[in-house]
Amino acid sequence: MRILRHLLVLLMHLVLGSGAQRFSNGYYYQDIIHGNGNGNDNGEIYFHKIRLHVESPETLVSAVQGSNVTLPCHYRYEPALSEPRRTRVKWFWQPVSDEGRERDVMVAIGTRHRSYGDFKGRVRLRRSAPGDASLFINPLQSDDTGRYRCEIIDGLEDESVTVHLKFRGVVFPYHSPRGRYLMNFHEAKEACEKQDAHLATFEQLYAAWEEGLDWCNAGWLMDGTAQYPVVVPREACGGTDLAPGVRSYGVRDKSLDRFDAFCFTSSIRGEVYFLQHPIKLNFTEAAEVCQNDGGRIAKVGQLYAAWRFVGLDQCDAGWLADGSVRYPIIQPRMNCGTSEPGVRSFGFPPKHLKHGVYCYKVHW
Ligand SMILES: *[C@@H]1O[C@H](CO)[C@@H](O)[C@H](O)[C@H]1NC(C)=O
Ligand SMILES: *[C@@H]1O[C@H](CO)[C@@H](O)[C@H](O)[C@H]1NC(C)=O
Repeated sequence: MRILRHLLVLLMHLVLGSGAQRFSNGYYYQDIIHGNGNGNDNGEIYFHKIRLHVESPETLVSAVQGSNVTLPCHYRYEPALSEPRRTRVKWFWQPVSDEGRERDVMVAIGTRHRSYGDFKGRVRLRRSAPGDASLFINPLQSDDTGRYRCEIIDGLEDESVTVHLKFRGVVFPYHSPRGRYLMNFHEAKEACEKQDAHLATFEQLYAAWEEGLDWCNAGWLMDGTAQYPVVVPREACGGTDLAPGVRSYGVRDKSLDRFDAFCFTSSIRGEVYFLQHPIKLNFTEAAEVCQNDGGRIAKVGQLYAAWRFVGLDQCDAGWLADGSVRYPIIQPRMNCGTSEPGVRSFGFPPKHLKHGVYCYKVHW
């Protein structure tokens, strides 16, 4: 494509003959006018020996669902221009789930811009400086991840750069209230969704392992494999012969095989809080007091997200929507579980027992 354009420029040069001018900085500029030929705004101008550079300081960006994000993209001319030019900026998106097709996100010329599809009303260019074509997305929705391409178009020239967007999230192991290794793939998928999460992908579990997730029970992943992350190899956990890593049982039968689940959540839409209440509550009462407080009893995924992204630290065991009792710790301390930060679990105690409760509320 570029070669074709250069040929075209060369050809036009031959046809037009004159028009070449030499400027004092030693660069050779060539203007070619299309359209009515009198050099007004309708014409497209091609600069010879001026290069359009497009770059991104950060080609992998991660963000939390429900928050906002800026995908960086900058362009400049080399050598620098004295006059600003009419440059068109286009952003495209290719979802992770659809390797083939690129979709339009937005197009902007000067101060005019237009956004498309699901991005309508949620995107704009940052324009914090000349040449800043960074894309601002607010809020981030659940399926915005993928590959974004920033294309700068100046007349016949175009250059682009690609930025990958992924969700920053937290992976947590989950098992059925009835016990360990009881869920087939479909049940595991549903269990995660009930906790405001999704089955984790291998990349997400791997990233969690890199951050220190060590769990000795195999869980389903989105790709239909069952795996578990080991940081410290030990006898009780597959033996000491194997190196630390994510260990896989491979692709399993989605209906017949049964494991736990690894769920992934990335959402900070609402607020999770430990309800201050004068007395402890059984499970039914716990769900009620959250409703009376204008919220709902929190889900496991919501508690993990609040712990991870909001820094919720509370040394009080509380009921959650699935009937489990947990509490989130950021600063490990005496009488608050083990020496590592994390969400502690007391499993699924009988529902008449009395505990505190974690509620969840969305503020509008
Ligand atoms: C974008 O998110 C940040 C927090 O990540 C927040 O401080 C800021 O106000 C948000 N900007 C807008 C325009 O909503
Ligand atoms: C919780 O206590 C209430 C009385 O306050 C009772 O009606 C209810 O059955 C109890 N629920 C459970 C699960 O024990």
